[in-house]
Amino acid sequence: MNLHKCTIDNISDLISIGRETYYDTFYAMNSAETMQKYLDEAFDQKKIESELKNPKSSFYLLYDGDSPAAYMKVNLPPAQSDLNDRDSLELERIYVKKEYKGRGFGRQLLEQAISIAKEEKCRYLWLGVWEKNEKALEFYTKMGFVKFGSHSFRMGDEIQNDFVMKITL
Ligand SMILES: CC(C)(COP(=O)(O)OP(=O)(O)OC[C@H]1O[C@@H](n2cnc3c(N)ncnc32)[C@H](O)[C@@H]1OP(=O)(O)O)[C@@H](O)C(=O)NCCC(=O)NCCS
Repeated sequence: MNLHKCTIDNISDLISIGRETYYDTFYAMNSAETMQKYLDEAFDQKKIESELKNPKSSFYLLYDGDSPAAYMKVNLPPAQSDLNDRDSLELERIYVKKEYKGRGFGRQLLEQAISIAKEEKCRYLWLGVWEKNEKALEFYTKMGFVKFGSHSFRMGDEIQNDFVMKITL
């Protein structure tokens, strides 16, 4: 397993794993129309390109040989989706392909996020997680995150409620 900090050269792998893992995680609990709209907006080539070029955002891919197995995205202010507290790092995305789940890759990515947060002298790492994503809520709770608020999240034309959780460093 090889942890790689992404550059523009990784854009096609990021779009492909991003679409696949988002679909696999949420298709059963959302309409096909909502899903399609979100995938087209969130993983648009130009959008991901501009996120990759943003110096306050970083993407990491875990490769199994040449195959992307998992990825994450972290943001410092002002690139965060909310809060933008200068003492914080946001873990905006953490996704493991279904065939690689339960093998420690989520933990490895989370440890990398914590290490980046410490290097950046952040006081805490935070994230938003859909209130209905029970498996992710269990994972985050197991890893030490605690809920400290909520915010809305737009998926397609739907407004959903996210719990906001953090680990104090
Ligand atoms: C949530 C996710 C990132 C976890 O990654 P993973 O690689 O499957 O998890 P790991 O194998 O690293 O597990 C780390 C620890 O968490 C535990 N864990 C993982 N999922 C769990 C769950 N649903 N409930 C309880 N514990 C869980 C593991 O047992 C492991 O504990 P251990 O180290 O004591 O054995 C991954 O399952 C995933 O991509 N899910 C779908 C996408 C998603 O929902 N992302 C979050 C969006 S906000």
